[in-house]
Amino acid sequence: MSIRTLIRGGLVVTAADELHADVLIEDGRVAALAAHGSAAAEVWTADRTIDASGKYVIPGGVDAHTHMELPFGGTAASDTFETGTRAAAWGGTTTIVDFAVQSVGHALREGLDTWYDKADGNCAIDYAFHMILSDVNEGTLKEMDLLVGEGVTSFKLFMAYPGVFYSDDGQILRAMQRASGNGGLIMMHAENGIAIDVLVEQALARGETDPRHHGEVRKVLLEAEATHRAIQLARVAGSPLYVVHVSAEEAVAELAAARDKGLPVFGETCPQYLFLSTDNLAEPDFQGAKYVCSTPLRPREHQAALWRGLRTNDLQVVSTDHCPFCFRGQKELGRGDFSKIPNGLPGVENRMDLLHQAVLDGHISRRRWIEIACASPARMFGLYPQKGTIAPGSDADIVLYDPHAEQVISAETHHMNVDYSAYEGKRITGRVDTVLSRGELVIDRREFTGRAGHGVYIPRSTCQYL
Ligand code: URP
Ligand code: ZN
Ligand code: ZN
Repeated sequence: MSIRTLIRGGLVVTAADELHADVLIEDGRVAALAAHGSAAAEVWTADRTIDASGKYVIPGGVDAHTHMELPFGGTAASDTFETGTRAAAWGGTTTIVDFAVQSVGHALREGLDTWYDKADGNCAIDYAFHMILSDVNEGTLKEMDLLVGEGVTSFKLFMAYPGVFYSDDGQILRAMQRASGNGGLIMMHAENGIAIDVLVEQALARGETDPRHHGEVRKVLLEAEATHRAIQLARVAGSPLYVVHVSAEEAVAELAAARDKGLPVFGETCPQYLFLSTDNLAEPDFQGAKYVCSTPLRPREHQAALWRGLRTNDLQVVSTDHCPFCFRGQKELGRGDFSKIPNGLPGVENRMDLLHQAVLDGHISRRRWIEIACASPARMFGLYPQKGTIAPGSDADIVLYDPHAEQVISAETHHMNVDYSAYEGKRITGRVDTVLSRGELVIDRREFTGRAGHGVYIPRSTCQYL
């Protein structure tokens, strides 16, 4: 039986508007909004009324870049779909788009089916998939068309990680040509991995084995060069391009120059590049390993360009690239050789809070917070307006956010299955209070009331910016 829920008295914030409004939910969807206190809202009746006074009522976050259970770096990301989606809900995210992986020599179908199986029945919130293309060939190019048809409409390629996920320029061009025909969006890990591997070898030969050298060999210029090359290849192929986890000022400049030419080029950054830096990579006693990810953390000076890019819309999305590895037993695989530290950071639970803090710190406006964390990722990946907004007909994925609550981020209190926090001790004003996913309470006044299996697979349409 469907429950009619009324959320009363909050400030509804979407990417477009802020209004004191009541929200009526029926059959898991938003049925109507009306100004708080208006005659229309006053006559609404419901089975359940949630008092949102003093709180923001915002769309559930859409995290378009996660890696639950990813096998990588000789181990596997420590969050399962169950633990990772539960943690996401705690942090106000109600949809993730995770990366299914094609292994070299295997079909896309096989990789995608493996990811369907991993997620099925285990998720607390809704999920969708991108596909990682590790082996571009005649067979997998044809399969791309089929995947677009079943709602997997974006494909990640890597200019980094030779021997693992790496594609050469010819393979990249072919995949882009295919995407330009089938409506798919190519997502690019833009770092020159061939050159980086030379620098890694040379650094290790000099005895430079500490985590901080990870940041030194993965040079800004090699991110900028790869970003430039990816843009030119996309131009030649006539395909759109989305560059993931942008961290360097010079890479943002490449994106901005392309967008100034009117090219369909998009960029994403992540909280770790906005809030952390090479100072963290240089932490003593191998603690810097906690911050090893690729692209790497950059010197603090790059952060201003990332914030500017988010304000000017040269960067459109903030995702987490959530790819957690425990310090003990996983990050430690790289003691004595930074190149063996599994690459990735936890963060799916922290994104909405960190970006709210950025509102308070004056980096972005409140509506831009919702745009880069909810609406734009939904539009970019064909989920809008089902996800990413609060409007009649949208899924009732709604967060009641307390903008005045104080919290200190810590591994002691987080819900991600990882033994450290990248933001340990950081003070945040603002906290998720209540979360609904398709009208069901997943977090109720800071108590988890959701369940594994509530979350369902959401097939996506193609990019809605094209
Ligand atoms: O360090 C990272 N980013 N790990 C996850 C894999 C990727 O490249 O996104
Ligand atoms: Zn990547
Ligand atoms: Zn990633």
